[in-house]
Amino acid sequence: MPEIPLIDASTLAEWLKTGKEVTVLDIRPNDEREEWQIPGSIYLDAYKRLNEGDFSVMDEVSIPKNVPVVAVCAAGRTSQIAARELRKREFDAYSLKQGMKGWSLAWNQAAIFFDNYQVIQLRRTGKGCLSYIIASDSKAIVIDASLPIEVYESILRDKNWQLEAVMETHVHADHLSRSKQLADHLGVPLKLPVLNKVSFDHYKIEDGQTIKLQSVSIKVIATPGHTVESICFLVNNEILFTGDTIFTNAVGRPDLKADEDESRNRASLLFDSLQMLMKLKDTIIVLPAHTSSPIAFDEKPVKATLSDIKNIVSILHLPKEKFVETILARLPATPPNYLTIVERNLSGNISDINPIDLEAGANRCAVP
Ligand SMILES: [Fe+2]
Repeated sequence: MPEIPLIDASTLAEWLKTGKEVTVLDIRPNDEREEWQIPGSIYLDAYKRLNEGDFSVMDEVSIPKNVPVVAVCAAGRTSQIAARELRKREFDAYSLKQGMKGWSLAWNQAAIFFDNYQVIQLRRTGKGCLSYIIASDSKAIVIDASLPIEVYESILRDKNWQLEAVMETHVHADHLSRSKQLADHLGVPLKLPVLNKVSFDHYKIEDGQTIKLQSVSIKVIATPGHTVESICFLVNNEILFTGDTIFTNAVGRPDLKADEDESRNRASLLFDSLQMLMKLKDTIIVLPAHTSSPIAFDEKPVKATLSDIKNIVSILHLPKEKFVETILARLPATPPNYLTIVERNLSGNISDINPIDLEAGANRCAVP
């Protein structure tokens, strides 16, 4: 049996980033694909049949022969069978190492430029976590770090930006925060919302406070609801980093680590927070901490204006009582492993765990 060539997630991400011709063939059961997928991938419902030894399923694939094909499953085992069968059929086939688990850490970036500052949006393309570097005159602040700290370090180094602080909008439940690690490693202040319950040292920031980054002013706005401590950052009255309070097409869920009464209470707080945000200038650009669809390698930022969001997110127009009832009725399943992830983010200790095991799976912070 010839060895099946494996390709890792960062190599596949690089191929997609540079526009290399490649077919990504997703062979998982359909419900897994519906939850999260690689952008541009082609689907073949082959998982069950391959595992039953029915390799004829690979005769049903309709993809070009002169382009490399990367087979993808959940953890990178069945995809090796698919790649082997494709090779028998004379395809230049590979298997994605560790499958979608490995893909969880794949990322790309997009930039947005303003008069006196710029923002780099760093996107975990599979999982949908969005983090940011805001920079002005060679000084920078990182917001909601969700990638390995080497990613931020290397961008800061390449751009010759000096990190001034790391900030978070709230205690995250969908991914391990890398903010403490990054702040510790580079010796800069870690700034967290005042009401958080983390057990490590940090600077507290609160509603109404303004943080300066050279000539840029970053105003802290308390927006309780998704979590009690959630805050947003309003930059120069032009952009709003919203964490998981509001997304480009949905609002944050109010129920994580909460019983029914607490969820209802937080949904009510969320209503008030959202109504307050909707009174800001319509042209303000919202940059959230997550998105629920796979992020293409197109360098286009995930963003929307407040005006766009008012048009798209109909729940925003409901009266308070109806909003609360609707949001509680629409809650999606909880994110995988979120209790452990929150516990780790509260203790700040993430050094002894493999993030790939804990974080695999789609983002589930939003209510449409
Ligand atoms: Fe969250």
